[in-house]
Order: sequence, then C-alpha cells, then structure tokens
Amino acid sequence: MAHLIWTDQMSTGIAEQDEQHKILIELINRLNDAIQERKDAEILGTVLTELSNYAVHHFGYEEALMDRHGYADTAVHKLEHQTFIEWMAGIKRKLAEEEAAVSAQVINFLRMWVTGHIMKTDRRMGQELSKIAPE
Ligand SMILES: [Fe+2]
Ligand SMILES: [Fe+2]
Repeated sequence: MAHLIWTDQMSTGIAEQDEQHKILIELINRLNDAIQERKDAEILGTVLTELSNYAVHHFGYEEALMDRHGYADTAVHKLEHQTFIEWMAGIKRKLAEEEAAVSAQVINFLRMWVTGHIMKTDRRMGQELSKIAPE
C-alpha cells in the first residue's frame, strides 16, 4: 500500500494543526510499513501505541482550540475523536490478546478515517476558527 501524502487539500488554514496532521500521517505510514514488513506483534504494538498517544495529544489540541472559541460543532467533532480513540484501543487489545497481525483492512480503515476526518471535519473547523483565532 502506497504511503499517505499530506496535500494542500488537507490544509485547514491553521499552521499548527496542519503540522500535527503531517505527523499523524507519518505515524500511519510507519504502521503501514510495519504491517507490510510483517513485523511481530510487539513491534506493531509499539507503533500502534505511538500512533494512539499522538492522536490523543492532537485531539486534545483541537478540542482545547474549539472550547476556547466556543466552536459550534464541538460536540460532534469530539465524538468523532472519541470513536477513533476507542477503535484504536480495540485494535491494541486484540493484538495483545490474540497476538494476531493487524490486517491490511484495519490499516485501510484507519487511513480512510484520518483523511476523511481531516478533509471534512478538521477543515471545516480550521477554516472557521482561523478567521477569528490564529493558533
Ligand atoms: Fe479533529
Ligand atoms: Fe485533526
């Protein structure tokens, strides 16, 4: 599977948010590589943990920004984040319990979720908030 590449179409108008999205995409690519190289469960677990930790950090940044400016779609946006975090926790649990490899389907869903969320939900938020608040 080819690497995900950050493009201008993902730009939200908030530089810090864009930088964090680039890191998120980089971590997903790393997970993708680990799966393709058939790394063992321990290595996959490490990459997954790194990815979910960064996602928590990144979501926290966005949520604080939305809270600070009373952004109208905050609740729905937070719910999308929450769903992702729970989903990541589920994958990690499965990996630990069954020592099963993370499938290509899983990584594909993850890639689609992240690009979809950035291009719709995050862009809407960034475009709105960048008008009133820079970072
Ligand atoms: Fe978001
Ligand atoms: Fe985001």
